[in-house]
Amino acid sequence: MPRLLLAPMEGLADDVLREVLTRVAGYDHAVTEFVRVSGTLLPPRAFRRISPELLAGSATSSGTPVRVQLLGSDPVCMADNAAQLAALGPAGVDLNFGCPAPTVNRHRGGAALLDEPELLYAIACAVRAAVPAHIPFTAKMRLGVTDTARALDCARALAAGGVVGLVVHARTKTDGYRPPAHWEWVGRIADVVSVPVVANGEVWNEDDWRRCRSVSGATDVMLGRGAVADPFLVRRIRQGGEAPADRDAEWAELLPLIGEFWQRVLAKVEARHAPGRLKQWLNLLRRNFPQGEILYTAVRAKSDVPSVSQVLAAHEIPFLKAAA
Ligand SMILES: Cc1cc2nc3c(=O)[nH]c(=O)nc-3n(C[C@H](O)[C@H](O)[C@H](O)COP(=O)(O)O)c2cc1C
Repeated sequence: MPRLLLAPMEGLADDVLREVLTRVAGYDHAVTEFVRVSGTLLPPRAFRRISPELLAGSATSSGTPVRVQLLGSDPVCMADNAAQLAALGPAGVDLNFGCPAPTVNRHRGGAALLDEPELLYAIACAVRAAVPAHIPFTAKMRLGVTDTARALDCARALAAGGVVGLVVHARTKTDGYRPPAHWEWVGRIADVVSVPVVANGEVWNEDDWRRCRSVSGATDVMLGRGAVADPFLVRRIRQGGEAPADRDAEWAELLPLIGEFWQRVLAKVEARHAPGRLKQWLNLLRRNFPQGEILYTAVRAKSDVPSVSQVLAAHEIPFLKAAA
């Protein structure tokens, strides 16, 4: 069975959204947003803040295993922190070599390291030695910083360093998030390493999923923004991916999940940040759901929690009604 993975998305797919998305249909695993490692040994609470799932067997309540991602550039410090994380029982440890954010790259982290395959090798070796063999150890990379010249070297370095799997986000750092994703590069990378390679980038619907697998030759696909914009995509793919989406039925199923999301966001973040979190999700949902467009438009102008809750109640969000 081809595996479907939920991508790490810092500032978007935190534990709250992971919980809700994995409720619709389980992923083979999810990866957390990155934990930034820079010079110090992080306390256990730093890992549990990013992944509260660590307190619950490192899985969402519906049973999707959650792997924790680390980002950093110092092999020794990365290894020390990986050992600290490993003691908390994560479903896996993943390394980030894809983040394009200037604040991260300035400190030699994320995609900036793709110019230095020797350093990728050193980091992977050090972390591999610190993580017990029974914990899956993987990495996620882009194709390069500005071009793909060193993509194969980077993949070889990570595989030689001991990762048991690679996810390839098929764009360079310079490409940002602009389409297209160069899925053919996933296949080129798979040809030179002996570990499984997962394809990632620009899969928004069943047709993209099919084309991505066919162009890349990869069996497994990691879904990012497409999974947030269409929470049912993973389920339709698992059901064969042939039947057209019934958006009305799906929207009815989504309403209680939007309600639950709102409740969980309110319990987690400061009130002033809560409306933004909901708008962010609705902004992606409206790509696929006409009802999402209506709800997004109604919520967009609201900036305080009571007004947003009022809009949700007016849109028949069942969870809120039950909670009232
Ligand atoms: C808001 C946002 C945050 C992201 N944060 C991370 C991250 O923390 N770690 C990581 O490896 N990739 C991160 N990514 C990249 C995604 O995991 C994924 O590789 C990328 O979005 C391409 O997949 P997609 O086209 O299916 O969205 C992020 C992407 C987005 C849009």
